Amino acid sequence: MFQSEPQKNIHSPLQNLEEWEDFLKQRYPESRVVAAKPFQAIDPEKKKEQFRNYEADARPTVREFYRQNHRHQTHEFGRNKRREFLSLNRRRMGIWEALEYLNTLVDDSDPDTDLTQLEHLLQTAEHIRADGHPRWFILAGLVHDLGKILCLWGEPQWAVVGDTFPTGCRYSDKIVFPQYFSDNPDSSNPQFQSASGIYQEGCGLSNIQLSWGHDEYIYHVTKDYLPEEALYMLRYHSFYPWHRENEYQHLTNARDRELLPWVQKFNPYDLYTKNHAKPDVKALRPFYNELIAQYFPDKLNW
Ligand SMILES: [Fe+2]
Ligand SMILES: [Fe+2]
Repeated sequence: MFQSEPQKNIHSPLQNLEEWEDFLKQRYPESRVVAAKPFQAIDPEKKKEQFRNYEADARPTVREFYRQNHRHQTHEFGRNKRREFLSLNRRRMGIWEALEYLNTLVDDSDPDTDLTQLEHLLQTAEHIRADGHPRWFILAGLVHDLGKILCLWGEPQWAVVGDTFPTGCRYSDKIVFPQYFSDNPDSSNPQFQSASGIYQEGCGLSNIQLSWGHDEYIYHVTKDYLPEEALYMLRYHSFYPWHRENEYQHLTNARDRELLPWVQKFNPYDLYTKNHAKPDVKALRPFYNELIAQYFPDKLNW
């Protein structure tokens, strides 16, 4: 089996990748979703939570992670990484094999959950299944974080996870820790300073280059096999400025706006389904083997 190096170098401020996701949960507490439901009394305690200053509360490791992410994710960096990884000529692997490969990612265990990557993915998928959603939706839950295998190929945390944002145009101030963009060389590129930057208004998200990470990678691995709704979930699940903050509308097209509700439907399963109840991998394997075989070939290019 493959073992990743313990991540203690300067590019790995996070103890584990879940630290970023735990921070997202603080920033977007589940109560915000609940409170948004009509006709529901808002619990004053939960209301207080909504207005918590998430940036002040962020752990120093999370802060350092975003500092690196915002500094290094330039437009050129994203273009180079696409060139480097999207020829998909590193490995041939089936989906289950990739799940097991991702599971070799050893980072310090998450004190909140102690779940492996595989267990997180199965939990997400199982919650989607329990709510009676279509089979492709369950499958999207199962594979959505497989792009994190980029970490196993030596990519730094800031180039694998983190909320994504368009590069090549002005940064939204709704992106978390916007002040850290002052260290990004793109901030002084005159071409990138307008709201649309190098893009045409309404050109659609498929024509926009987002900051590089696990979303874009898994989208390319799976794009020939899953329905478009699932592909939107995979490609944009970390694009919080769009699906949670409602930013960058001027760059979207009608299709993006049509599919946005699916990305939003997916998000709570990603953020709020972690718990201590470990899924029984062995018992679930037959169901997922069949589901995987329904959509994917035996081997895919990674
Ligand atoms: Fe993710
Ligand atoms: Fe996830």
